[in-house]
Amino acid sequence: MSRVSWSLACVDCGQRYAGLELRYRCACGGTLDVVHDQGAARAVKPETFDRRLASRLAVDRSGVWRYRELVLPVRTDEIVTRPEGNTNLYASPALAAYTGVEALQLKHEGENPTGSFKDRGMTVGVTVARRLGMERVACASTGNTSASMAAYAAVAGMTAFVFVPAGKVASGKLAQALAYGAKTIEIEADFDRAMALVEEVARREDLYLLNSVNPFRIEGQKAIAFELLHDLGWKAPDWIVVPGGNLGNSSAIFKGLQELKALGFVPRLPRLAVIQAEGANPLYRAFKSGTPLRPVVAPETLATAIRIGNPVSWKKCLRGIEATQGVVEQVSDAQILEAKAKLDAAGIGAEPASGAALAGVKKLVAAGIIGRREHVCVILTGHLLKDPETVVRYHGGELQLEGLEARDVNRPVRCAPQLETLLQLVRRLARP
Ligand code: F0G
Repeated sequence: MSRVSWSLACVDCGQRYAGLELRYRCACGGTLDVVHDQGAARAVKPETFDRRLASRLAVDRSGVWRYRELVLPVRTDEIVTRPEGNTNLYASPALAAYTGVEALQLKHEGENPTGSFKDRGMTVGVTVARRLGMERVACASTGNTSASMAAYAAVAGMTAFVFVPAGKVASGKLAQALAYGAKTIEIEADFDRAMALVEEVARREDLYLLNSVNPFRIEGQKAIAFELLHDLGWKAPDWIVVPGGNLGNSSAIFKGLQELKALGFVPRLPRLAVIQAEGANPLYRAFKSGTPLRPVVAPETLATAIRIGNPVSWKKCLRGIEATQGVVEQVSDAQILEAKAKLDAAGIGAEPASGAALAGVKKLVAAGIIGRREHVCVILTGHLLKDPETVVRYHGGELQLEGLEARDVNRPVRCAPQLETLLQLVRRLARP
């Protein structure tokens, strides 16, 4: 294997490993960080990234590989890209009013090629899989990782194995895994069990594991922070708010921010807020009690993307919360659905897990933790069409939840195919 300019370091014991070897964890069981030799990164200037925005090359257009000196310095002809990123950063007066924050922006990671933020990490993970000569890849997933991995594996000509919790994956995501040709195995258990199983199966069957325990997934994922700060002209917001499940995304955002600060791109770190669903809140509990994470058994939430009780990257995430004086908050399913309906009705739209982040902002503002005058950026993680069942059930009035007032219900109306009846109906619906 040729020499590379990075190595791997254990988050728990600091043990170092070579940059490219078939390894996801330290011998002690701890998760690993990619540690860069910052030579190439130090030479790069913000103007390089600006210039690449105007390029027609896929590796420059990608919102991950545009920052390649900071992500993973590999040969550009080795890269497997769709290209990802370039997601919009929205402002919405309606959502600002809803949360109580004046300067609210929303970065819509659901606008990635497969409809979720996972594509940023996946392009790097699959590129490394190819570099390692792997032909088969695997992941456990609540849906979006599997959709993303299936697509990138298809592009790279690899066989994908996905392990999903049976009956608990939103239909848009399952449809993608099937359509992109992944071998899709529905495990009769929850995500946490599927995750434990896939690590073992990958080891025994020589499959390259592409969950976010894989440190290269984190390297791509951190480009959300690069692109967001680039969008903002390298001015840090006061807060970045993100939903938390397996905690790869929040860990990656922190790593990206920390590296930007070390390289002098931003003078200070924004505060991180990670929002969990009440029924799947192990990080929230650990944060509140100041004790190590204890898994939540049988996690439950309508936001199936974050229905996770034993998150792999909790240590990396808490490290980021601590270093940024961040917070962890929890929200109920009713709050998640209400916030999602607001997001949708604002014309932006996202899947339920993203609603959790917006609901979290509202709760943190009400508690006085986020100031009304502070600049808040919310990361929307998945596209509205990922989970159409929840939308249709919500608007059909079928979702009965304590605390859910469902004021924004928009029921479809049936009509006989007659002009007069239809005109009357349209006039009635036009009334405020
Ligand atoms: N939002 C969405 C839409 C997700 O799909 C996920 C995670 C998260 C938030 C939480 O991000 O795990 O990095 O803390 N989905 C994973 C999956 C677990 O398998 O698709 P996290």
